[in-house]
Amino acid sequence: MNDNEIYKKYLNKVKLIQKYNELYYNKNLSNISDFEFDEIKKEVLDLEKKYNFLKSKKSPSNSVGFKPSKNFEKVSHRVPMLSLSNAFNEEDLINFEKKIFNFLSYNKTDNIEYSAEPKIDGISASLIYKKGKFIKGLSRGDGKEGEDITENLKTINDIPKLIIAKNFPTEIDIRGEVFIQNNDFKKISEKFANPRNAASGSLRQKDSAITSKIPLKFIAYNYGYSNGIKINTQVEFLDNLKLWGFKINPFNKKIKGVKNLIFNHEYLEKKRKEIEFDIDGIVYKVNNFELQKRLGFAANAPRWAIAHKFLANNSTSEILNIEIQIGRTGALTPVAKIKPVKIGGVIVSNATLHNEDEINRKDIRVGDIATVERAGDVIPHVISVDLNKRKKDSKKFIFPKNCPSCNSKTIKDLNEITKKQDAVRRCISEGYVCEKIAIEKIKHFVSKEAFNIDGFGKKIVENFWQINLVKLPQDIFKLDYEKIKRLDGWGELSASNLKYSIDNKRKIGLEKFIYSLGIRHIGQENAKLIARHLKSSDNFLKLNINKNMNDLVDIDGIGETQIKSIKNFFLNKTNLKVVNELHKILSIKNAKEMKIDGPLKNKTFMLTGKLSNMSRSEAKSLIEQNSGSIASNVSKKLDYLIIGEKPTKKKVNTAKELNIKVLEQADWIKMLNKTS
Ligand code: IVH
Repeated sequence: MNDNEIYKKYLNKVKLIQKYNELYYNKNLSNISDFEFDEIKKEVLDLEKKYNFLKSKKSPSNSVGFKPSKNFEKVSHRVPMLSLSNAFNEEDLINFEKKIFNFLSYNKTDNIEYSAEPKIDGISASLIYKKGKFIKGLSRGDGKEGEDITENLKTINDIPKLIIAKNFPTEIDIRGEVFIQNNDFKKISEKFANPRNAASGSLRQKDSAITSKIPLKFIAYNYGYSNGIKINTQVEFLDNLKLWGFKINPFNKKIKGVKNLIFNHEYLEKKRKEIEFDIDGIVYKVNNFELQKRLGFAANAPRWAIAHKFLANNSTSEILNIEIQIGRTGALTPVAKIKPVKIGGVIVSNATLHNEDEINRKDIRVGDIATVERAGDVIPHVISVDLNKRKKDSKKFIFPKNCPSCNSKTIKDLNEITKKQDAVRRCISEGYVCEKIAIEKIKHFVSKEAFNIDGFGKKIVENFWQINLVKLPQDIFKLDYEKIKRLDGWGELSASNLKYSIDNKRKIGLEKFIYSLGIRHIGQENAKLIARHLKSSDNFLKLNINKNMNDLVDIDGIGETQIKSIKNFFLNKTNLKVVNELHKILSIKNAKEMKIDGPLKNKTFMLTGKLSNMSRSEAKSLIEQNSGSIASNVSKKLDYLIIGEKPTKKKVNTAKELNIKVLEQADWIKMLNKTS
């Protein structure tokens, strides 16, 4: 193709995008799937990258339009649809089991039984049944709220519409995976990048007649809430699913012991190629439901299950450039821009190089031929470079010592525990002075786990920042929609959709609010602990007014590192301004108590000594589940000191001096059972 032809091809595609945008935003018509749309957009961007002379004003790289998912109604999941932690090797599995043993205070001779279920790489869905009738089906969404995709799910043959089995619970939501078998995918492979995209794209079609033409399958594996279920183990549950008319994975197995889990993993990894659907690992679930209940959940994933991933796919490609990305916490992450290469059905053009130390250790340079690995949903990374193929004139990569964005000093922290220098180099600027950090902070603010503003994607944050619409989080709530609707790629409808999404988020819980601020070391779990302890946003703001963090010292789980980080956060004037303004604009709801009227309400506990048949962690989570709170030192604020075997004498004595009640484990258990 000569330049003229390339230009024509390019312009045609740009016009196509314009046409679909126009139909979508102004006529409310969706004539192609999101995936097809994204494919065209990608082709345009790829052409622009390849040929410098191409660039139309109407290029999608200049427009900030988005496709809000207004097609489906949002519905809350009665029980959140959480994800799973990943294990990659035997060590991870040993750790997983060790944590379970510790939590349950088991000893090594106890053998835990697992349900081992091959993990299908599809799209999860929740099917709600009432009196045996399939009444509603939801996508996972953000885990808390899904989209009502009932009509599309009804087109799937594997989903029973009416169940008359005697022991089928009167109410239940059955969860499982929607997917496409590899042989079926072959027939539609020119439209989608891989089977997973095909399943997701077809499930989110507006027109269920189109969905019905795609040969989607469903395999069931779990349930969320239920009324009237009398089943004690996962394996028994899977057997029942079959009796009720669901398909279950034919390779499910009941297994004991890490060694046997590994055998099964090796067996399935070899067999993987012959199986007619894509699997990317095996999910292990503690078989006994009673134990599952005791183990409960950490921040985002259950303690009783893990996904053991298969070895990743890898390939080789040339490193074209090494760019430094700056994260929300100032971390400088080197990223290799590689010559696009297909790995496991997906085109990869970026691969992380992790940090400065990693580059030095592996002596990674621009121009090198690198082995790149991609494991399912994990970010692709460079494993090694081929020194034999290195060009003679290649130069060692010099990692910048100043922040490439704001030129501030960068440092490597000293790890308090190991007393070693961190591998990660960070930009030391606080607040919003560093452009890259500021943008990342705003992306974090609107992200799924934080404010979860629908349709406010990363690209929009970047664009709004560049055109001075959003420089600080509070600007999001003061947007000029008249201006937005006139921007390239936007219109009346898309601007009003954005306004709707943002206005929906003016009410927010304290823990989400704290998490959204992106304070270093304050992730979801710590934000929850702080919110539960402080209860109201007024108290959170007072942390600054008093310049007094003492209040946080009492929180079990919050240590010096976190407190230091919160202190630093409040010392910055811009951060203060952000928090105060948001506090004025938003309605921040007080932190929820786990069980509002639990028998331990308004009581603070502390534990000392070894408990019998129960770990510290389990005892703590039991206290919290019953509305009590936990302190980490003996002070006047403490109501009860629970003592196990060999308690710390000093703690018991101080408690007695302060007239704090000292409880034996058995008395505390009685307290728990009083009203619950
Ligand atoms: S159990 C809290 N079982 O893996 C329990 N998930 O990362 C969570 N998946 O979103 C789900 N096969 O899409 C479970 N047998 C199986 C599964 C499975 C595939 C997917 C599912 C989920 C993701 C978790």
